[in-house]
Amino acid sequence: MSKKILVVGSINMDYVIHTGRLPKLGETITGSDFAMNYGGKGANQAVAVAKQGCDTRMLGAVGTDLAGELAVRNLESFGVDCAPVFHDEGPTGAAVITVCGGDNHIILDVGANAHVTPARIAARRDLFEWADAVVLQYEIPVESVLAAARLARECGCTVILNPAPVKEVDPALYGCVDLIVPNEFEAALLTGVEVTDRASAACALEKLLAMGCKNALITLGKQGCAYCWQGSVGYEDIIPVQVADTTAAGDSFIGGLCARLCDGAEFPDAVRYATAVSALTVSRPGASVSIPTCAEVEAFLRG
Ligand code: RIB
Repeated sequence: MSKKILVVGSINMDYVIHTGRLPKLGETITGSDFAMNYGGKGANQAVAVAKQGCDTRMLGAVGTDLAGELAVRNLESFGVDCAPVFHDEGPTGAAVITVCGGDNHIILDVGANAHVTPARIAARRDLFEWADAVVLQYEIPVESVLAAARLARECGCTVILNPAPVKEVDPALYGCVDLIVPNEFEAALLTGVEVTDRASAACALEKLLAMGCKNALITLGKQGCAYCWQGSVGYEDIIPVQVADTTAAGDSFIGGLCARLCDGAEFPDAVRYATAVSALTVSRPGASVSIPTCAEVEAFLRG
């Protein structure tokens, strides 16, 4: 039976432009390949787990604009159940993204994501009772993330936290987290350890555990990832691909990892699988649209 994953988080429309270099303050430059893509860390993670075959529900909020309607339709087209998504007067979350040399810069206007309140989360206890795992990020109010993590804990769900973009939170949150997954920059902000290589990542992992998280994994860009799972430290290299767009690299990794863990995979195997999901995602432009299906990932790993 497929595992039941609840994603509590953001739904955005991404407005993306590619450029050879970033403009200086006050300067106008020419970009190319403008696109409107479906994004949002929460929505991307929901698509990633759904594409790996999990029964997926999304608790979030969109505006009553066209972007919101299209974003929900997009999620549903991948099999994500959006019945719990609120439709609120006002704009849907918007991310302005510049892709430069394959890497990206993101500026976010949270829009309707701000309406995912603790009260709305508490009112949907049924979703937490249904789920095996709950996936959280910080593009909704942080007090809502804490409320969701506490409820998930009470209902016996595995809690996976992607602390992105990094915010100041009630430290009690970490005590509810089974697995925290920051990137190297987020890990540095959270722990005060500059994460540049595997040795410094191991040091940051220790700090994340000392903060209360049960397990931790730090993605290290081109250097792969480092993790501490049930007391054992491990590393995984990236699978080299031609990079088109790194948007949703972390989101797809988390989706792949969560799906495999919930299927009962050993942690190192789940990490290898997530690495393949992320490699395929960055080899294609876009956010949720670039995330591969389970069949694509398995073929890629075989190849
Ligand atoms: O992680 C990538 C996502 O972050 C983008 O899709 C954008 O919406 C931002 O929230």
